[in-house]
Parts: sequence; C-alpha cells; structure tokens
Amino acid sequence: MSRLRGGPKRETLAPMTATTWHHGVVARWWAEFNTTGPEIDYFRRYVEAGQPALDLGCGTGRLLLPYLRAGLDVDGSDVSGDMLALCREAAEREGLTPRLYEQPKHELDVPRRYRTIFMCGALGVGSTRAQDLAAFGRVYEHLEPGGVFVLDNEVPYAEGNGWDLWQAAGRATLPRPRRPPGERRSGSDGAEYELRSRALALDPLEQRLTLEMQAFMWRDGELLAEDELELTLTLYFKDEIVLMLERAGFVDVTVKAALTDAEPSADDDFLVFTARRPPELPSADGRE
Ligand SMILES: C[S@@+](CC[C@H](N)C(=O)[O-])C[C@H]1O[C@@H](n2cnc3c(N)ncnc32)[C@H](O)[C@@H]1O
Repeated sequence: MSRLRGGPKRETLAPMTATTWHHGVVARWWAEFNTTGPEIDYFRRYVEAGQPALDLGCGTGRLLLPYLRAGLDVDGSDVSGDMLALCREAAEREGLTPRLYEQPKHELDVPRRYRTIFMCGALGVGSTRAQDLAAFGRVYEHLEPGGVFVLDNEVPYAEGNGWDLWQAAGRATLPRPRRPPGERRSGSDGAEYELRSRALALDPLEQRLTLEMQAFMWRDGELLAEDELELTLTLYFKDEIVLMLERAGFVDVTVKAALTDAEPSADDDFLVFTARRPPELPSADGRE
C-alpha cells in the first residue's frame, strides 16, 4: 500500500513552501474522472487564434488531449510527474505524442516560444504569491512578442472556498475533522476510488488555505493504495492579479466573466484574465 505525505515534490519547492496533492491516487482520480468541462471549448478559441500554445499546469490533459486530437500545436507542463505520466499514457493510446515538461511553473524553462500560454485552474494551486509572480515572469519570457497569456481564477469568496475561515471564529474551527467514508466511484480500470478533503489552516494575511486530501483506491474490495496529501492554495482577488500581470510586464490586461466573456459582476465566481506581451517595436530606421 502506498502512503505518501505532502507529495513527492515538496522538497523541490523549498524554501518558498507550497504543496500540491496531484500525485499518486489523486492523479489517477483526475485521469479517470476529470476529463470534461466547459473550459475545454472556452480556452480552445485562444489556442486556435495563436499557435504554438503551452498548457501551463496541464495535469492529466483535460484540455490538452482534446486540442491535440483536433490537430492543434500545444505542449504541456506541470509540476506533477504522476499527472504528466497519466496524460502521456492517454495520449499514446490515441497515437499522440505530446511534448510534456515536468517543472514548477515559477521555474518554467522549455525550448519553444509560444503565441499563447494558457493556465486553467492552476493559479495559486500549489504555489505561493512569490512563486506565482515569478511564474508570470517565466510566462512572459516564453511568449513571442505580441503573444497572449490567458488564465482563469476562482474568487476567494466563491461558495465552498471557506470564506467563513477568514474570520477568527471560523479559523478557531480549524483543523476541521476528517470526513467519514463517503461515495466510491468506479474507474475504467476496474478500481474504485474515494477522495475525502478537509481544511487544515487558513492564513488571511498570506491569503493561503491549506487543505488535506485522503485518497483511497480499492480493487475487488481490497484497499490497494491510500494517500494522504496536502494542498496549499493562494487565494487572489481580481485586482491583485491585474497588478501582478502588469508588474510582470504585460500590457492590454483584460478581465472577463468566465465562459461568457461578459463584463464581470459581483455574482461571477470565475474570472478570466488575458494579458499580452508587448509586440516588438520597429527600430527607428524602420528595420525590424
Ligand atoms: C486543478 S489542476 C488543473 C489541471 C488542468 N489545467 C485542468 O484544467 O484539468 C492543477 C494542476 O496544477 C498543477 N500544479 C500544482 N502546483 C504546480 C506548480 N507549482 N507548478 C506547475 N503546476 C502545478 C497540479 O499538478 C495540477 O495538475
């Protein structure tokens, strides 16, 4: 039985500690059950408008695999070798051979330059504010002049994000008790899976939520694997992201309501940010 704590990548992120739970049984869960969603079509438009593209924090390929299937020129990068291995396996089953890079986003360093870099569901996931700012800088460096960075973010006050924990009375309830056994889901591999999560800590100054995940995998009634992992989430408000993008050198920063492209309102929990690396200006004598 595998039993992990904190995930194998924990050391690589020191000294700015942040962890992600996308390893082991959790990675298998993602590959099995997180394969659809409206974000796939939403982000696709940006990729179609500017290739080559990079899926930053691509995970098991929820967006990447449909894009590759459609013949789009997209690479992927993620901190979790387990997520990438499952992404590669799924791609190879379809005869696809993606370029995948195992790197934390704040150390992004790949050989290509891109017209589009997109990041879906990965801002602040397993990363600190300093790392996210560094990641924006790495994205800038990996875009061609005029290239576009597009990312989404769920607001900290969205339902289910533990907004009550920001106040002292809420924090006094932490760590929350572990959940009792719940529903198991059957995977295509014949195994059964269950995830149980709970909040461990919230630091309102750092805007950081720490969650624990227990992940279980059974086959024929026998427990095969049980992982216990932590995830740190850095939570961001709209204008912080705008300022961070501008600080990284981006221009033409826009904020829209996710999936509708409408002007965002107080009722929108998901926002989409676009930002452009400035195009190269022609030199004074008119030569490029
Ligand atoms: C919520 S999942 C989203 C995966 C994929 N973008 C999707 O929408 O299906 C977040 C992903 O971010 C990755 N991740 C977490 N911390 C990271 C880091 N520091 N650098 C790069 N990727 C990271 C995780 O391994 C995971 O695959």
